Amino acid sequence: MDDNEFAVIEKDNIRFFDEELNIICKKYETVNLSNFNTTKNGYDNFMLKEIFEQPKAVINTINNYISSENQGVELSQFQPNISTNSSSTIVSPSSIYNKQFYFSNFNLSQDDLNNIKQIYIVACGTAMHAGLAGKNIIEKLCKIPTFIEIASEFRYRDPIINENTLCIFISQSGETADTIAALKLAKEKGSKTIALTNVFGSSITREAHFSFYTYAGPEIAVASTKAYTCQVSLICCFAIYMAEILESTNCNVLEELKKDLFDLPTKIKEVLQKQEEIKNIAKQCYLQKDLFFLGRGIDYAVSLEGSLKLKEISYIHSEAYAAGELKHGPIALIEAGVYVVGILTDDKLTLKTISNLQEVISRGAKTFVITNSKLPNNTFDFIFTVPKTNSFLTPILSVIPLQLFAYYIAKEKGLDVDKPRNLAKSVTVE
Ligand code: M6R
Repeated sequence: MDDNEFAVIEKDNIRFFDEELNIICKKYETVNLSNFNTTKNGYDNFMLKEIFEQPKAVINTINNYISSENQGVELSQFQPNISTNSSSTIVSPSSIYNKQFYFSNFNLSQDDLNNIKQIYIVACGTAMHAGLAGKNIIEKLCKIPTFIEIASEFRYRDPIINENTLCIFISQSGETADTIAALKLAKEKGSKTIALTNVFGSSITREAHFSFYTYAGPEIAVASTKAYTCQVSLICCFAIYMAEILESTNCNVLEELKKDLFDLPTKIKEVLQKQEEIKNIAKQCYLQKDLFFLGRGIDYAVSLEGSLKLKEISYIHSEAYAAGELKHGPIALIEAGVYVVGILTDDKLTLKTISNLQEVISRGAKTFVITNSKLPNNTFDFIFTVPKTNSFLTPILSVIPLQLFAYYIAKEKGLDVDKPRNLAKSVTVE
């Protein structure tokens, strides 16, 4: 249904009305829910199941955009919506999976892309954090200035955007009120809009000029996990696609990145196999009142996501800081026994962040470090190693121990992991 429509649902009949209560005809589509597994499948909680579904969810997403045979980005996947007006047909998941959805007249031309002077990525919560990882990829590969905006801020601040702006709206549910309102505003101002969502036929896809999908399957736990890793993967595919058209990055770099995308599921599995390590760390700090996350560059973006995950399901107060900001205020909060989680996946910044962590250690903090490098064993209380990957893709691996960390802390505290207090899965009101 579109906005301002009503329905009367009876046992054998559904009638639709417009806002003046005139009867209207709607086109029906049968959505085949059996395509999706919406049970816990033997897991204690949906959240844990969804964390473990990530290898499959990520490869399903990548496979829909990059052909694994020649590893060329399939242009046909980045297609315009069937219709951008509100009476568009609801497209059922089965037809999407059969790829009957896409037009053959591909219409984001090289000229269109060359005219894009700036990109905004607009979203809320975890989707916004995926956008932060995406900004890094798009700017470096496409050389287009890219800005991240919180949807609830963007919609009210009269942003300077025009027909030379591309706005990407990320929303797992496709129903987040602020994100949809921000999209409508961007469209009014003449920008090209892309919805990046996990839900076919969701409200956001009816508004955007283009819709790209993550193929994560339904995400039921309130805490978003597999949606994030799929969103980052999809933005990476899109950035590669744009970079190929714009010829903004050396082909070898793009080929290497494609190969590394296909290696992700194996590496995600490697991380998941070490869940007991995280469980043991969680057992030691679940009674903490405050926790801090530190990182630089892309690791700061992941710190924000780790901190959000922890607070929403464990109710432990936590903050994420860019490690270099520590001495500009937050270090006043560090005292003996406080836990600080450090994320160190960028070789160029590792020594800098280590030096920040040493500042908290000297004030008695306990440290838990997530890294892909070999670090001295005796400096930190806990070290969790993730596999090396392409520098654009580190957020996809380093976020997983943080998802498990939040999960096991909430479990230790005996909390309802899937339905944390005060939160809804889709935030359909302001
Ligand atoms: O459905 P959306 O991606 O638009 O939702 C955005 C946020 O509400 C969502 O990511 C929220 O922050 C999650 N609960 C985080 O785990």
